[in-house]
Order: sequence, then C-alpha cells, then structure tokens
Amino acid sequence: MAQDALKRSAAKAALDYIEPRLTPTTIIGVGTGSTANCFIDALANIKHKFDAAVASSENSAARLKAHGIPVSDLNAVANLAVYIDGADEVNPDKQLIKGGGGALTREKIVAASADQFVCIVDASKLVETLGRFPLPVEVIPMARGLVARGLVGLGGAPELRSGFITDNGNLILDVYELNMDDPKNLESRINNLVGVVCNGLFAENAADVVIVADDDDVRILD
Ligand code: A5P
Repeated sequence: MAQDALKRSAAKAALDYIEPRLTPTTIIGVGTGSTANCFIDALANIKHKFDAAVASSENSAARLKAHGIPVSDLNAVANLAVYIDGADEVNPDKQLIKGGGGALTREKIVAASADQFVCIVDASKLVETLGRFPLPVEVIPMARGLVARGLVGLGGAPELRSGFITDNGNLILDVYELNMDDPKNLESRINNLVGVVCNGLFAENAADVVIVADDDDVRILD
C-alpha cells in the first residue's frame, strides 16, 4: 500500500478515540503534518461527536476551519480529552521525535494539556533507537549561535533550517549525530540550554497509544 494510504488508515483508526460527548463540552487536540492532515480530513465526518479542536499550528487551524470545525484557543479550554498527531520516529517505549514540520513547541504544549496522546504513524516511522531523523530544536533567533555551540557540546551536529520561521517567530536547528540511548536525559539537557524554546524529543511525556498502519493491518501499541 502507498504511504499516503497507510497514513489515511492510521488516521481513520484514531477516530475511535473521539468519545461522543460525555462531558458538557468535548474539545480535542489536533496535530500537524501530512498524517495529521489525513486525520483532520477524517474528523470532518464525525463533527457531531465533539465541540471544537485546539490546533498545534496555524496550518492545522486553517485546515480545521476549512472543514467547518470550530478552533479554540488552548487558554480558553478547561479540559482536552485527547491529542492526536503524527511523528517522525517512534521507539518501542512510544517515545518520539517530532517537529519535522517545525510545529514541535505547540505540539508539545497541546500534547501536555491532553488527557491522552494518541500518535498515528505508518510503519516506516518505527525504529529501535531514536536518532536517525535529525532532532528539531526551536531556538530564539538571537541565541542561534549560543545554542548551536551547546548542541555541539552535547555531541550533535546542528544545521539551521534554511528559510524557516516557526509559528512562534523562532528558528529551527535540525541536529544530527546525537546519541539517543537515554532520550529523557537528552531531552532535559537540550531544554536546559539557554535560548532553547523546546526540542522535538517526546520522551518524558511519550505517547500513550501509538496507532501503526502497515500493509497488512492497523496495530495498536498501548
Ligand atoms: C510536525 O511538526 C511534526 O511533528 C509532524 O507531526 C511529524 O513531522 C510527522 O509528520 P508527517 O505526518 O508529515 O510525517
């Protein structure tokens, strides 16, 4: 099956995690990227099951609105039932690298706000050890050099993502060659570099559920 069809299969399976309104209002968190786009398109068919969505990027907000799905500000939301998003890599502990689309900071914020994080991927995203995909790090522009030197000190080889500005007005350094044997420790050490806004390791707060689509079936890792 083509990769796009696998993304659509994983996205469709995630609809099962949208519970019909059990609380007065049901708000769901929605991620960013091509797999998340498949999910947004699938969501349009079950609009009656929830009240609104919080988006992790301006692109996703625009796509939700184009489907007639109301978009809420996270600060106006008391409870977020579930966050559904893709990933660039997933290890057996359901720890992730995210941020290939540059939305990692808002993704981490919305994921941290939700009761449950459901990650949707095709099987090409599964790895034994994270780190083949370069780790995106969002950086305050004036700290670009300082942070880059700090990342070299951690064993990485950072490259500025050319011509890219995040929704928060910052830069992205894509970091190669980092040792990710201890993802939680690395996530925390990178966050401690002054000038770092956020990094794309989702290790301390991994996914709760991973939905994996491959040629044969859709599997749930929980
Ligand atoms: C966006 O910033 C990313 O975290 C995406 O969720 C991730 O890159 C996966 O994207 P695709 O679904 O396009 O592979």
